[in-house]
Amino acid sequence: PRSIYLSRHGESMYNLEGKIGGDADLSERGWKYAQKLPELVKKVLKSEEHDDYDDDDDTDIKLTVWTSTLKRTQQTASYLPYDKLQWKALDELDAGACDGLTYEEIELQFPQDFKERDENKYEYRYRGGESYRDVVIRLEPIIMELELQENILIITHQAILRCIYAYFMNIPQEESPWMSIPLHTLIKLEPRAFKTIVERIKADI
Ligand code: F6P
Repeated sequence: PRSIYLSRHGESMYNLEGKIGGDADLSERGWKYAQKLPELVKKVLKSEEHDDYDDDDDTDIKLTVWTSTLKRTQQTASYLPYDKLQWKALDELDAGACDGLTYEEIELQFPQDFKERDENKYEYRYRGGESYRDVVIRLEPIIMELELQENILIITHQAILRCIYAYFMNIPQEESPWMSIPLHTLIKLEPRAFKTIVERIKADI
């Protein structure tokens, strides 16, 4: 049975500074996660195989890594020895006029927007940017492709992963803005007939 693996990119310089959006590089800690990820992935793939008689290190399970077009996801994937594919549709929710600001700066510069987002985070669309609803729509082709594929590891961004996670967990999309998708954690989803089995593996970094 196939699995879908999800991970946010490692901590970025913007994450450290509390800024949203952008195309920042990984922080030192983020690079540590990138270095740790191959081992983490190998471990979960290995547990998938269930063949105790074969103790060689290589796994027969085929895996493809999908990233966004942003540097932080590609840097996170850089040590992984699998085929990789970049998708523009996996780029982070576009914060438009607020891109590169902290939440405090948004509250000061765009108080009305800040309030509107707080009141309806799913529907709120950033000026010149996107809402969660917009993201759900742009992810449709990705979800369709995922349904056809075997094992995929998706390394992307918080808002994007919240929507993908809600989809596979059969949680209404309106709730996606509040899904907990922490940094430096590999999430394994095994879609089954009536429910999806979830496992979260936190990196020790
Ligand atoms: O802070 C990281 C980040 O990925 C931002 O780039 C993005 O705008 C934000 O998270 C999405 O989370 P929220 O919808 O809770 O603001």
